[in-house]
Amino acid sequence: MTRHISPQSQVKQATMFGTYEFPSYGEIMEAYTKEFANYILPKGDTTFGFWMQTLADLEFLDLELQGLTEEYTIDPINRVVKFKGNEEFVRLRVAHLEKVRGKTTLYAGLVDKFDDTNAYAFHNLYPYNGKFYPRLVRTLINAFKLNHNSLIFDPFNGSGTTTHEASLMGIKSVGIDITPMGITLAELKNDLLFIEKQKLDFTTSELQDIFELIKSKKWQHPDSRIHKLMLVVYFDTVDAFVRTSKYNAKGEIGLFIEKFNYIKNCYEKTMEIKEKYGLKFESAHIIEGDILELKNMSEMKEKFDACITSPPYYFSIDYVGKDKIAYDYFGIDIKKIESKYLE
Ligand SMILES: C[S@@+](CC[C@H](N)C(=O)[O-])C[C@H]1O[C@@H](n2cnc3c(N)ncnc32)[C@H](O)[C@@H]1O
Repeated sequence: MTRHISPQSQVKQATMFGTYEFPSYGEIMEAYTKEFANYILPKGDTTFGFWMQTLADLEFLDLELQGLTEEYTIDPINRVVKFKGNEEFVRLRVAHLEKVRGKTTLYAGLVDKFDDTNAYAFHNLYPYNGKFYPRLVRTLINAFKLNHNSLIFDPFNGSGTTTHEASLMGIKSVGIDITPMGITLAELKNDLLFIEKQKLDFTTSELQDIFELIKSKKWQHPDSRIHKLMLVVYFDTVDAFVRTSKYNAKGEIGLFIEKFNYIKNCYEKTMEIKEKYGLKFESAHIIEGDILELKNMSEMKEKFDACITSPPYYFSIDYVGKDKIAYDYFGIDIKKIESKYLE
């Protein structure tokens, strides 16, 4: 039996088994476009981000507008917002709107540049287990009305998502963690925001030599930031090879160069955004230690305005296993670190 999906359509296409006839591809696309125009395209000049896909996103938008504006209304059907407040401030801070009064928000600029809603700036430096979503951190910073006079604290800072996001927003922060690899990553994300462009200029043959030097444990560099960066890229490369054979054709050195260039590219994009939006980054203070010994930490004397954290759930996440390569490389006893983990 033949069923006609759309009796009006002129050009039919039969399904593979000839059981139905569909409208033409063009007709389907046209109908979809109308549907999208009716229900999804925002109607207004202060509009939702295209990354707003769940009801939770709507809640987050609501939360951050409470902190960013004097008053506001959200129209979820037409995907628009009306608000009273400082337009320019909202445009630079908001994490859920694509446009404010017709102008692209900074967050939309980041998403466009990095083609991702969370892997912008150096957030994607290295895959750390149990990482926070940067967009959530930004939302909470907005909801708490924090500004450049505030101090944010993350007692379980891990790879530094909170501190990095705070730095990008020009807000001071302190991050503590007990995992050495987390500390290295958090410090590096911070350092890379302030490094001079030419420091990241390496030729392919220099990168090849660096890879070999690291492999034979002879790698040294007078700039500790470059020293650390190359090690992190090396660990990430070796780890990728242990996990999958899909990079075999590239070879370890090929992948090392690719990963380094990815980070260099992140640097260039981050600096372009900084320039375009006139941003001022703030440096974060990263402390290695057991949070239970906070009272004894001489470095931690400041009072903070907000604590944004994602606590450990050690029973389900292995924070050090992923970085075994790094710990073996430095001869660090993982068990000693793990014994201090909070569950
Ligand atoms: C869920 S992760 C945090 C991840 C972080 N939000 C990020 O984006 O990378 C929890 C962190 O708690 C840390 N942790 C566990 N026990 C700790 C302790 N006693 N003192 C300080 N940090 C600890 C772990 O090292 C881990 O990095």
